[in-house]
Amino acid sequence: MARLFSEVNKGRVRMRRIRRKLSPFPFNNAGGRFSLSVALWTCVFLIMFIYFFTYITKRTNGRLIHVHPNHLSVAYELEEIEEEPDFRLPSAHKRNPRAVKRRGPKKPSTAISKFLDESSEIHSMFFPDRSLTVGLKVENSSSSSTGYFYPGQIWLDTDGNPIQAHGGGIFFDARSETYYWYGENKDGATYHAQHKGTARVDIIGVGCYSSNDLWSWKNEGIVLRGKERNMTHDLYKTNVVERPKVIFNAKTNQYVMWMHIDDGNYNKASVGVAISNSPTGPFTYLYSMRPHGSDSRDMTLFKDDDGIAYLIYSSRENIDFHVGPLTEDYLGLTGVMKRILVRQHREAPAVFKHRGTYYMITSGCSGWAPNRAMAHAAASVMGPWENIGNPSVGGNRVLRLTTFFSQGTFVLPLPGIPGSFIFMADRWNPSDLRDSRYVWLPLKVGGLADEPMDYTFGFPLWSRVSIFWHKRWRLPEGWKNVN
Ligand code: GAL
Repeated sequence: MARLFSEVNKGRVRMRRIRRKLSPFPFNNAGGRFSLSVALWTCVFLIMFIYFFTYITKRTNGRLIHVHPNHLSVAYELEEIEEEPDFRLPSAHKRNPRAVKRRGPKKPSTAISKFLDESSEIHSMFFPDRSLTVGLKVENSSSSSTGYFYPGQIWLDTDGNPIQAHGGGIFFDARSETYYWYGENKDGATYHAQHKGTARVDIIGVGCYSSNDLWSWKNEGIVLRGKERNMTHDLYKTNVVERPKVIFNAKTNQYVMWMHIDDGNYNKASVGVAISNSPTGPFTYLYSMRPHGSDSRDMTLFKDDDGIAYLIYSSRENIDFHVGPLTEDYLGLTGVMKRILVRQHREAPAVFKHRGTYYMITSGCSGWAPNRAMAHAAASVMGPWENIGNPSVGGNRVLRLTTFFSQGTFVLPLPGIPGSFIFMADRWNPSDLRDSRYVWLPLKVGGLADEPMDYTFGFPLWSRVSIFWHKRWRLPEGWKNVN
């Protein structure tokens, strides 16, 4: 064995020598290794220096960014890391040996299957009942819970009813300083249209809620209603309307909603467009289409600072994403399209921007079941996009691997605290979809990304995206006015 090693080592020495001879570098003399590494480190140091220098002096809207101590102190509040003990899964009960013979060994019960099984303890842990509600009209509300987000608990609107705005997004109306939250109203019975088909609720419509503080939400009603009788209409109740997103078009003065439109079997795979003169609707449904002639399922809109808006959607049976700009009136698509995150099988895109860089959070494709989120970054919305790692921080391993048992839907900037956002996600409850919960958590852009980079030879050009787990949290005092 020792001989074998020494042979191998001799071989290596020989190879090294040969490689040295062939090397094109001029440092290839006796001190060459030392000089080469010094040169390399000098390069790395110089690149890092230039990188940090440009990072610090980068201008936003032509103004220099000043790191204000107030930003730091409020941002720290959002970045606290809250750890949770690992879950103890209930031990699997013994099975009848005859059943084992007939059906083979049972698949190990994972935390996710327990979470989805409505009879399990884990399920009730993640879907606490009405005695633990959050919102203005909480029966036994105490002032100590006012203003706090409790991810996963029932969230009541100002009338005391659970908020119905799933797969949603928020539009901020700067003129009235009002936030509008649009989402799927799923307040109907959950059923399976086919044996082993996806759990579903008939279309009720797109709900809208308004708020000035992001915590107390007034129900503005259903702004785009499903159709009870017209069986040929896209909004006919047995079809699918998911992930509505609204943006404002300053040229036409119209509020424009795009959404995923599908039939009950998810074969239509289209996007729908609706418009309104008011953020609170009613929206008029215009049409559906297959964007760029491709199938489209989970989707989102992103409106850039220059007013150009983009549609981003899962395509080719969720294998890739497609991205393309909307026409100027936001009612259609230009012919331009790029295929991004190719063969990565992602869905639930949520796009946001920080200091000129675009970021996106996506989920894997596992229907209503939660999975691990991924953050991506790009210098242009049109890509190329790079993976920069799982953004989930804190909690425990299982929480981080399941995006805190939820799936993203939107990322809302908190302009008063640069680099801080709210990550909005849905904790789907496929046994009773109307009872799906909201998981809102602070999201922060900062620090170095931790995934190997594809296009930058491992050099981290992007900042890290972190979503911090909290059982209970609130926006820092004065979060709107910190400048
Ligand atoms: C998810 C998707 C949801 C919904 C669900 C149906 O993957 O993100 O919006 O379509 O599948 O199973």
